[in-house]
Amino acid sequence: MQRMIAVDKLARPDTHILVPLERMFQARVDQGFSPTNVMPHEEDFLKGRLHGIAAGEMQAMEAAGRTLFDFPDAPWEFQLDMARQVWDESRHAEIFIKLLDYVGSYLGEFPESEVLWSCTQVDDPACRVAGINRGLEGLACDVFEQIIRLAQKMGDPVIERAVDYVLADEITHVRMGSKWMRKLTEGDPERLRQAQAFQDNIDSLFNFQGARTTQDEAPQVPVEVGGRAIDFDATLTIAREARMLAGFSDEEIDRLLKAASRSAAY
Ligand SMILES: [Fe+2]
Ligand SMILES: [Fe+2]
Repeated sequence: MQRMIAVDKLARPDTHILVPLERMFQARVDQGFSPTNVMPHEEDFLKGRLHGIAAGEMQAMEAAGRTLFDFPDAPWEFQLDMARQVWDESRHAEIFIKLLDYVGSYLGEFPESEVLWSCTQVDDPACRVAGINRGLEGLACDVFEQIIRLAQKMGDPVIERAVDYVLADEITHVRMGSKWMRKLTEGDPERLRQAQAFQDNIDSLFNFQGARTTQDEAPQVPVEVGGRAIDFDATLTIAREARMLAGFSDEEIDRLLKAASRSAAY
């Protein structure tokens, strides 16, 4: 079987569309929207957001499986962690597909981004866990915390609890990424530097015009979501507590905040 397979080899129904993240952003700009729908300002925010996550969970499941397959010589404990992650992500995919149904959507209603799969196109397991487990699943902690608080304000315990259960798993996946990025690069500072640089590239993709900050500091703006008017953060905040539980150091979170507040990604 072939290693490092291309994104068009992923098994999807003919009706599903996979596109590069940049093309999704550009399509939104072309229609007069902001490049991302990170904030609940739009009518279909919740559907779009839950769809993005459901597709991300599918790719996370597929990617952990591929990492297990692509690196047969990696330590046994690493392979076991990847196998466990496949199982976790398959449950997450089921949960989010059910949540899509709950909000009146379905998998395939929106295009699917290739961003997570792009992190499997690297021939080093340390880079893969840095990019996927620490970069993208660290971002997932931020996104999930946002949805949980949104669901609390909407008074929707179904979404709140479902996402909270998944967040608990994601914290373990980020922690797993931190552990293996360090273990696999032990005694090889250049390899560690490359893995960290790979993660930095992912982090900078999601800086959102340098407007990201913490929950305490985010300005509140009035928005309407699910037919209810609420005050909510003006930006996608960085979930300091969840990230610390996941093994990010204070210094790493501060570095992320500093990079996110000075970068103009778009
Ligand atoms: Fe997940
Ligand atoms: Fe995960």
